[in-house]
Amino acid sequence: MRATDTTPSTSTTDTAIPATMTAALHRRFGDAATAVEVSEAPVPSPTAGQVLVKVEAAGIAIGDWLTMKGQPYIARPAYGFTSPKLPVLGNEIAGTVVAVGEDMPADAPVVGDRVLGFSQGAFAGYAVTKAEHLVRTPDSLSTVDAAALPVSGLTAYRAVVDEGATQPGDRVLVLGASGAVGTFAVQIAKAHGAHVTAVASARNTELVTRLGADRVVDYTTEDVEDLGETWDVVIDLAGNRSLRTLRRVMTERGRLVIVGGSGGRVTMGFGRTIRAMLLNSFVKQQLIMLVAGSGQEGLAAVRDLVAAGTVTPVIDRTFPLARIADAMEHIGSRHTQGKSVIVVGD
Ligand SMILES: NC(=O)c1ccc[n+]([C@@H]2O[C@H](COP(=O)([O-])OP(=O)(O)OC[C@H]3O[C@@H](n4cnc5c(N)ncnc54)[C@H](OP(=O)(O)O)[C@@H]3O)[C@@H](O)[C@H]2O)c1
Repeated sequence: MRATDTTPSTSTTDTAIPATMTAALHRRFGDAATAVEVSEAPVPSPTAGQVLVKVEAAGIAIGDWLTMKGQPYIARPAYGFTSPKLPVLGNEIAGTVVAVGEDMPADAPVVGDRVLGFSQGAFAGYAVTKAEHLVRTPDSLSTVDAAALPVSGLTAYRAVVDEGATQPGDRVLVLGASGAVGTFAVQIAKAHGAHVTAVASARNTELVTRLGADRVVDYTTEDVEDLGETWDVVIDLAGNRSLRTLRRVMTERGRLVIVGGSGGRVTMGFGRTIRAMLLNSFVKQQLIMLVAGSGQEGLAAVRDLVAAGTVTPVIDRTFPLARIADAMEHIGSRHTQGKSVIVVGD
């Protein structure tokens, strides 16, 4: 029996599940060198409605770096005020179901299924999560590509399709096109028939052009507001432009999807988002704050776009779990090119 067994699972693989696993433990808030420790931890057990997944790869996002740091401080009620609430870092997984709890939904994945989706404690050998946070991984999808989808792929899909409501022929501006979310957003907007302007530095021009961008604006030498043009959908991932600037580059009934924020450890520019929400009722333009969430429908839609070859995850770097501190430093640089993934296990 496993060390932490409290609720017996109804179904398991033939392969014995060990009592302990390697995990990236979140010891305290701070820099990677002191905040994270790769060590042994008990393998969790699935409770009702949950599955236990043997994690093979886990996507890493700026949200993981912020959780590690405990920033922005206004999020401390969720993170924990003085020390981390959650023992293991990571939020998105790809792997294989090895056990399921009781009372599973009818369409839930079963033991042996390859899955991808959302799970707390993802930087570990095993993770438990609700069945509704997962979708099945098609055979054609590699485990690393699958792990790249949940946070960044779903965020891009929700920004472009659900909130941006991108229509064929729309002019879409992606600010921050070369990062984890942006590389998905450019491709998803193109798949919806948009004309895409990607804002990225010169070193990423070739990358975003390859992904389908019709035009690239180098933010280090040009300002979009100086171009005298407007866009139907503006997706703000960079988070460093004022609301006034963003509204100037939007059409009269344009849609602004605020995804990213920047500006300090306390609120990370949340004031700008609040101002946008307040202004939204008084202007013709739509000013929208994106909360990506963990919806199964959107996740399945992104997975299907990838499985069909319409969208290709851009994998920046992979790191073994033992090098989680290096991975965190890399993500925290904010100069990634696409999505990085932690490879777990053998
Ligand atoms: N609302 C939600 O639910 C949600 C969900 C996920 C993510 N987010 C947020 O979305 C934002 C983007 O996430 P991400 O994972 O894509 O970030 P990321 O991967 O860290 O983005 C890095 C990329 O941004 C580019 N960049 C930096 N400054 C820029 C600027 N001023 N203009 C244009 N590009 C710039 C960098 O290119 P260079 O190296 O050339 O500078 C780099 O390629 C983050 O703020 C994240 O917190 C929100």
